Amino acid sequence: MGADLDRVLLTEEQILARLEQLSEQIWADYEGKDLLLVGVLKGAVMVMADLMRALPGTAPVDWMAISSYGSGTKSSGVVRIIKDLDLDITGRHVLIVEDIIDSGLTLSWIRSNLESRSPASVEICTLLRKPEVAKVAIDVKYVGFDIPNEFVVGYGLDYAERFRNLRCVATLAPSVYS
Ligand code: IMP
Ligand code: MG
Repeated sequence: MGADLDRVLLTEEQILARLEQLSEQIWADYEGKDLLLVGVLKGAVMVMADLMRALPGTAPVDWMAISSYGSGTKSSGVVRIIKDLDLDITGRHVLIVEDIIDSGLTLSWIRSNLESRSPASVEICTLLRKPEVAKVAIDVKYVGFDIPNEFVVGYGLDYAERFRNLRCVATLAPSVYS
């Protein structure tokens, strides 16, 4: 696997420390509110696992699976629900938990889809954000790290379904996808 990677962008320690800060901030912001964490499969699995365990208290979790990327490295803009939420979000404070925002197309679509179901609020928490997102008007309340415009894998993020199990976030050697 080592030859497929270029360099480590974020270590497991850095990621966990940042998620702990975000969890505390989220917990304080949602005090006394009916918070529901919504993870976007499959990339957000690691972020959700560590973020929810770092919360000072308990909050329910639900999952959505959507497809927008195929196996390439560019967003298609075409979003399809593969697995919808199990829970009714009416009147609840929804926090979408994501691995990465690149163009923002995927999240703006998910957000408006969830907003149409009459929740009390919908906010976004993403571990990583790329500079491209500046092009779309999307308000992201919690951001772990702003990263350069490079394709990254690990900690849930994949390239053609590989590398999700890496503990760190690393850049992919261009030879892998060119
Ligand atoms: P967006 O619609 O362009 O914001 O793309 C968001 C989705 O694309 C994320 O949920 C990821 O699944 C995928 N994605 C974007 N950038 C990367 C990357 O650098 N590595 C792996 N997946 C990525
Ligand atoms: Mg994803």
